[in-house]
Amino acid sequence: MMNVEQLKKDFPIFQHHPELVYLDSTATSLKPHVVVDAEREYYEHYGVNVHRGVYALSEQATAAYEGAREKVRKFIHATSTKEMIFVRGTTEGINVVANTYSQNFRKGDVILLSEMEHHANIVPWQALVKWIGVELRWIPVTEQGDLDLTNIDELLKGVKLVAVTHMSNVLGVVNDVKFLARKAHTVGARILVDGAQSVTHFPVDVKDLDCDFFVFSGHKMLGPTGIGVLYVKEEIGKTMEPYQRGGDMILEVTKETATWNELPWKFEAGTPNIAGAIGLGAAVDYLNQLGMEAVWIHEQELAKYGREQLAHCPGLQLLGGNAASPRGAIFAFELAGIHPHDVGSILDEQGIAVRAGHHCAMPLHARFGLAATTRASGYIYTTHQDIDRLVAGIKKVQEVFA
Ligand SMILES: Cc1ncc(COP(=O)(O)O)c(C=O)c1O
Repeated sequence: MMNVEQLKKDFPIFQHHPELVYLDSTATSLKPHVVVDAEREYYEHYGVNVHRGVYALSEQATAAYEGAREKVRKFIHATSTKEMIFVRGTTEGINVVANTYSQNFRKGDVILLSEMEHHANIVPWQALVKWIGVELRWIPVTEQGDLDLTNIDELLKGVKLVAVTHMSNVLGVVNDVKFLARKAHTVGARILVDGAQSVTHFPVDVKDLDCDFFVFSGHKMLGPTGIGVLYVKEEIGKTMEPYQRGGDMILEVTKETATWNELPWKFEAGTPNIAGAIGLGAAVDYLNQLGMEAVWIHEQELAKYGREQLAHCPGLQLLGGNAASPRGAIFAFELAGIHPHDVGSILDEQGIAVRAGHHCAMPLHARFGLAATTRASGYIYTTHQDIDRLVAGIKKVQEVFA
């Protein structure tokens, strides 16, 4: 069992805002001291460029940067660091694939998405409809909030790429991407898994999932903003053209042409986010110390408690409240007759931070006939008291609008 009260002391933000009830971790997580310290240490002690210098400080920076890559490799159980490309985050990771792997697509090829995707896993593919003439097809979401896989064999006809979220940032449901990977591979398609929410909350093993691409963001898993990872199976990465071109991603340049560096550096043109990668490495160390199994146990327990407590709020409708899939502590809800922005503002007056809007999932909201919801989401530092304060806050919102 995680000692959450003790663990909260690791997060400086609670010293600055002792009364804060932070329920917006799906948007971004808070950062522990160790992450902030790792970034500061880099800038203060060896803040020079990587891969370039022959001097000791540059070698130290390179070792720390590449060491962070090894940490994230182990964290998701990839085979080789050649498969671990540092990017700005999930959004950039998906854009890399959409801009480079798409060279394999032809007019009429199908990309299979789901109705519960974040815009980051929709909009880059829409560009390919324009540029190449691919077709986008959608796995439906049931009324309960699960992926409807009843007709998956039919849906997979002509599919070249399946791109699905591992864990919904609105419903909190965890999708069976291992099953989808097996299905995709039987029709010769590749699968990209959006791991922005999953890798933060439970153990992920990309080899076991057998996904071809896996993307995630550091800032949702206690790490800094502006750093994330695109995992690409080595055999696929080798065949992909670079995403951006410039320094560090080349082997040799003449006036006429250039040859590419090895994986993963072929995809990391220019000076990378060195401090961010080192900070992400520190976040991985911190999560490993807690143990991802323990993180998931805490999360599921919190999800259960939250659902039970929110069920007592009259007029509150939880999106995906009856889903059969495993679920994390993400609660998107409607409050009868009250606009989510009003809910969010009145909760804020009580020191409770939630998100209001479409949460970058407009097609999912449209599926449920909604324009917006209020979303409360927890993480390792979230307590039962935080949920109780939320429930009390919602009562206050209802009193204001009574
Ligand atoms: C499921 C999912 N995918 C993608 C993203 C985009 O992540 P980022 O903004 O870090 O690129 C998010 C962020 O909320 C997300 O929850």
